[in-house]
Parts: sequence; C-alpha cells; structure tokens
Amino acid sequence: MSDPADDPLSLAVRTGLPVEMRYLLDAFPRERWPTAGMAGTAAFWLQMHAGFRAQQVRMQAVTDQWRSGRIDLRQLHGGLLPLLQNFLGHLDGHHRIESGQYFPAFSRMEPRIEAGLALLDKDHDAIHAHLEALYRNGLAFHQAMAAGATGTTDAAARLAEVLDQAAAPLARHLDDEEEIVIPLMALRGDPHG
Ligand SMILES: [Fe+2]
Ligand SMILES: [Fe+2]
Repeated sequence: MSDPADDPLSLAVRTGLPVEMRYLLDAFPRERWPTAGMAGTAAFWLQMHAGFRAQQVRMQAVTDQWRSGRIDLRQLHGGLLPLLQNFLGHLDGHHRIESGQYFPAFSRMEPRIEAGLALLDKDHDAIHAHLEALYRNGLAFHQAMAAGATGTTDAAARLAEVLDQAAAPLARHLDDEEEIVIPLMALRGDPHG
C-alpha cells in the first residue's frame, strides 16, 4: 500500500481543497452560508456535520478529564463509551449514504466536480480506518474494564490516543466536503428536489 504522505491530496496531509475543486466555493463562499436560507438537504447536511463535531468535542472533553485526573477509569468508561458507540454508528451510516447515494447524484448534476467527489469518497476510506481503530480500542478498553484487568489503564490510554489521531482528519474532511456539497446544492439545487 502506498504511503498517504506521498499523495499531496490525501486526507492525512492536505490543508484544504486544491484550487481546481474550489470553483463552487468561490461562487458561494462560506460567509454567505448563514444568511442564504439553505434548502432542506444542505441545511440538514450542515446540521449533521455540526453534530459530529460536537460529539468529537464531547469525547475529547471526557478523555481530557481522565488524563488530568479529574475522573477515574470507571467514569471514563461510563462517559466515553456510549458517546463513542453513538459516534461510530452515526458517522459510518452518514458516509454510506454520502458515498452510495449523494456523491453519484452530485456527479451527474455537476460532472466538473467528479474528481472532488472522488477525493471525498477516498477520505471516507481513510476515516473508516480510524473508525475501525476506535472500535477495536473501545472494545479492548471495555473488555479490560469488565475483566478488571491490570492493563485497563493502558487500554484507556490507547483509546485516547486513537481518538486524538482521528480528530484532525475528520475535521479536515468535514470542512472540505462542506465546501463542495453546500455550494453545489445552493447553486444547482437539491438532488432530491
Ligand atoms: Fe463525508
Ligand atoms: Fe458528511
């Protein structure tokens, strides 16, 4: 498998959309979004993304509390795992609908942005690897906790670490995806409209 660092557009290294994928955003910049009166799907999309960002902040806050000694392992377990389970389920479902239904529809509506949609689709694969790592490490922490194992602290620390590692790529993807799909729907219409 090639190193994602070799691809300047990979989710792990890019710092935003390349210029050729920004023409929709140029036509409908972020500053105009709040006052534009978005159509249903665009507004819903932004709401979903805001939800993922908020879930990530909440998980990070619980993890930080544990790292700084304000809560113990049991409280970390009780606080973090339900949030994580919810986050993994919702994000996975969201990606499936985007990659399976919306991106093909957008591609037909706006063939010029096909490469951008392919990039976002590839992001989903990269994020999926983070979600799997989160699932594996969440389960390992849960099992260690349930068994009262001596390695529970290490398992929690590993989970906290994979949570850290997932944060930046997910934030990058949410921003970049919005900068393609929100202007696209604002300019070309709702795919189901
Ligand atoms: Fe996405
Ligand atoms: Fe999304």
